[in-house]
Amino acid sequence: MNTVETTVGYAFLGAAACFVLGLHLMNSPRTARRGNTLSAAGMAAAISATVVLLAGQGAITATGWLVLLLGGVLGSGLGLYAARSVEMTSMPQLVSLFNAVGGGAAVLITVTDLLQTAHPGDLAARVTVPGALDIVIGAVTFSGSFIAAGKLQGTIPGRPIVFPGARATSVALPAVFALGTLWLVLDPASVTAMLILLLAALAFGVSMVLPIGGADMPVVISLLNAFTGTAVAMAGFVLDEPALIIAGALVGASGGILTKLMADAMNRSIANIIIGGFGTGDTVVAVGTDAAGAQVRSVSADDVAIQLAYASKVIIVPGYGLAAAQAQHELGDLANLLEEHGIDVSYAIHPVAGRMPGHMNVLLAEANVPYPQLKEMEDVNPEFPQADVALVIGANDVTNPAARRPGNAISGMPILDVDKAKSIVVIKRSMGHGYAGIDNELYANPKTGMFFSDAKKGLAELKSAVRTFVS
Ligand code: TAP
Repeated sequence: MNTVETTVGYAFLGAAACFVLGLHLMNSPRTARRGNTLSAAGMAAAISATVVLLAGQGAITATGWLVLLLGGVLGSGLGLYAARSVEMTSMPQLVSLFNAVGGGAAVLITVTDLLQTAHPGDLAARVTVPGALDIVIGAVTFSGSFIAAGKLQGTIPGRPIVFPGARATSVALPAVFALGTLWLVLDPASVTAMLILLLAALAFGVSMVLPIGGADMPVVISLLNAFTGTAVAMAGFVLDEPALIIAGALVGASGGILTKLMADAMNRSIANIIIGGFGTGDTVVAVGTDAAGAQVRSVSADDVAIQLAYASKVIIVPGYGLAAAQAQHELGDLANLLEEHGIDVSYAIHPVAGRMPGHMNVLLAEANVPYPQLKEMEDVNPEFPQADVALVIGANDVTNPAARRPGNAISGMPILDVDKAKSIVVIKRSMGHGYAGIDNELYANPKTGMFFSDAKKGLAELKSAVRTFVS
C-alpha cells in the first residue's frame, strides 16, 4: 500500500468516525446542528479521498472530471437551495425526495460497476447478491419515495389507492426478485436480468406506497429512509468500499429504529401501517356533542383567560392542529405573557404528536420557546396532578384516555395524562376526530372546557383577554 492509499484509508476511517459521532450528537436538539455539520464534513472527506485515490490511479478521464464537477456543483447547489427554502411543513416531502435520490444513486452505481467489470464471469456471489439487493431496494425506494412525496404534497390523492390485482402483484413481484437475483448470480453481466430486477422493483415501490393513507406517510418515509441506507450499504459491498458500507449501515439501522419507535409510540405494527386502513382524521362532528352524542362544555376566551390568569402552573399540550394552524408564534406570545406574571409554564411533548418525528419540537423552536420548557411524556406525566390548567391546543389522540382501555384504535398507546390536571381547556375547531378517527373521552370530562376556535385565532383572542385580566 503506497502513501496515498494509506492516507486515503485514514480519511475513510475519519469519515466513518464523523458519521458515528454526528449521529450520536443528533440525540439531542441542542447538539443536532453540530452533528449534522460533523456528518457533512465526514461525507466531504470521504468524497475528496475517493477522488484523490481515483485520480492517483489515473482512473478519471477528462469527461469524468467534467461529470464530477458539474454533478458536484449542480447537486450541492440544488440540495442547498431545497434545504434552505423548504417550508417546515413540507420537510417530510423533501426528505422523501432525498430518499428517492439516494436510492436511485445506489442503483446507478451498482449497475455501472457490474457493466464495467472486465471479467464479469469471475464475479463471486458475494458481489452479485448485494448487487441484486441494491438494485431491488434502491429502485423500490426510488419509486416509492416519489409516490410518498406526491401524496404528502397533494399531487397524488392522500387516501389509500388500491388498484385491481394489487395483492397478486405484491406477492408475484418478490418471486421475480428471487429469479432475477439467481439470473444475475449465474450471469453477472446480464443486462436483461438487471432490467427485470429494476422494472419489478420500481413497480413494487409504487404498489407498496399507493395503498397507504397519507397520514401514515411519515412512518413510510422513515422506512424508505432505512431502505436508502441499506441500498447504499449494498453498493458499498459491490464496490468494496468500507465508507459506503458504514454510512449506509448507519442510515439503514437508525432509519429502521426510528420506524419501529414511531410505530410503537402509535401502538401499531409496521406491517399494520403498510397494510393501511387507519383513519385519515378529518371527520367533522357538530360542535357541542361528540359522535356518540355525549354533551361537552363550551367555554369562551374570557372564561379561559380567567383560569389562566389565576393559575400558578400551566401545562401546554400542543398537537397536530397547532401545526396545521401555524399558531406557534401566538402560542409563544401567550406563554411569555403568562410567565411575565409569574405563572409556571411548560410544554408536554408526546413522541408522536403532529405528523412527523420531532414535529412539536421543531414548531416550538420556530417560536423561540426555550428548550428546557419542553418536557417529554415520561417527565411531564407526574406533573399533571399539580397543574391548575392543562391547555390542549390542536392535540387529540395523544390525550385520549380511551387508549388506557382495550378494544379501540389507540388501545395501548401511551398518552399524556391531561385528564389528571385540576382543570382542562381544549382549543380546536369542532368535535372532529384526530388521526385515529375515534371520539376523545377527555372532551366529555366535567373538568374540560372546549374553546372551539381555529388555534391561531383562538390564541390571539386568548392573549388579549389574559392581558385585560392581568393588567
Ligand atoms: P390528532 O389526533 O391528529 O388531532 C389533531 C386535532 O387538531 C384534530 O382533532 C383537529 O380537530 C385539530 N385541528 C386541526 N386543525 C386545527 C386548527 N386549524 N386549529 C385548531 N385545531 C385544529 O393530533 P395529535 O394529538 O397531535 O396526534 C397525532 C396523531 O397522528 C396520532 O394519532 C399519531 O399516532 C398520528 N401520527 C403521528 C405521526 C408522527 S411521527 N408524529 C406520524 C403518523 C401519524 P378539529 O378538526 O376539530 O379542529
